[in-house]
Amino acid sequence: MTQVDPNISRAWHRPVLGAAVLTMGVLLNGTNAGAGSVDKAAFGNTQDGKAVELYTLTNDKGASVKFITYGGIIKEINVPDRWGRLGNIVLGFKELADYETKNPYFGALIGRYGNRIGGAKFSLDGTQYQLAANNGPNSLHGGNKGFDKVVWAVEPQTDANGAAAKLSYTSKDGEEGYPGTLTAQVIYTLTNDNELRIGYEATTDKPTVANLTSHSYFNLAGDGMGGIGDHILTINADRYTPVDATLIPTGELASVTGTPFDFRQGAPIGARIRSSDPQMVYGRGYDHNFALNRSGDGLSLAARVYEPRSGRIMEITTTEPGIQFYSGNFLDSTLVGPTGQQYRQTDGFCLETQHFPDSPNKPDFPTTMLKPGETLKSTTVHKFSTDAP
Ligand code: BGC
Repeated sequence: MTQVDPNISRAWHRPVLGAAVLTMGVLLNGTNAGAGSVDKAAFGNTQDGKAVELYTLTNDKGASVKFITYGGIIKEINVPDRWGRLGNIVLGFKELADYETKNPYFGALIGRYGNRIGGAKFSLDGTQYQLAANNGPNSLHGGNKGFDKVVWAVEPQTDANGAAAKLSYTSKDGEEGYPGTLTAQVIYTLTNDNELRIGYEATTDKPTVANLTSHSYFNLAGDGMGGIGDHILTINADRYTPVDATLIPTGELASVTGTPFDFRQGAPIGARIRSSDPQMVYGRGYDHNFALNRSGDGLSLAARVYEPRSGRIMEITTTEPGIQFYSGNFLDSTLVGPTGQQYRQTDGFCLETQHFPDSPNKPDFPTTMLKPGETLKSTTVHKFSTDAP
């Protein structure tokens, strides 16, 4: 499979028959020649008594992705550095209780609406819908109990080129104020080419809005290795969406030329992060959506990140029109990672592929409306590699 085949997202979402699972031999709690393995272990109970499991996807190179059924949270991504040593490159917690009580969305699936909706309300077909204002006057990442805080049903999937699992969740009509029953499925695949592919699908029984994403905080030097200022970031975007003081887009698509938002040629994240550009002051750093330069409807390059010490490279391709670059500005030392390390501002960065923030209130932005009979389909691929030793 190549990264740029526009048919991938469709082929990939096809349901796998139970019989195929047996004959292809992707086994739960066991290893499997060639196709990678999917393992499952208990990860405790939520405060309201729901069992949570930890899944591990391992490919034939030994790289792995660990995620929990609570929030679909990606807890670890273990990929090689330039010397072939595996290391975890995402921030997280050791215990479920920390994910339940203080998670700034580490690794989580985000829905129904990734990013902000201004004034925590929107109108559809003449009806106004009120959402939870959980971020100043705005609604952030799906409200008080978004997709990051529900327990997803998980089924291992057959994939000849890696290890995969399907996560499903049905959000009831009216949940968090959104209209329509939203049936969501997400497939995580770790391919034998060290790509983490995230495929999203959703359907509804009433007109609604949806914007699904994933919220890993990356540090390609390794979790707990300090700041991300030296990472060299490239974003394939000529324009970004400036925001007001509450981080809601003004509606303008502004040129990145001559601003700290010009990452077209690659620049260290830290180089301009203390710029006095008012946009950087609003976000306390980068917390902005970039309008991607796209070619066609298929997977298209969104961003590339290179970390010079480890040699690790992450390349992100997506079918989405935008990407939120968030430089971990609100991390503070009250958050403690799995090996006891304190997290601080800019110890991790997020690159959240998405439709633009506040699209339900911005008719000129690509629409996030979903109607009965339609299927939301979205794919994002994180390809991990390294420079030469
Ligand atoms: C938002 C930030 C927010 C963070 C929460 C990001 O997606 O853009 O403003 O603070 O999520 O972890």
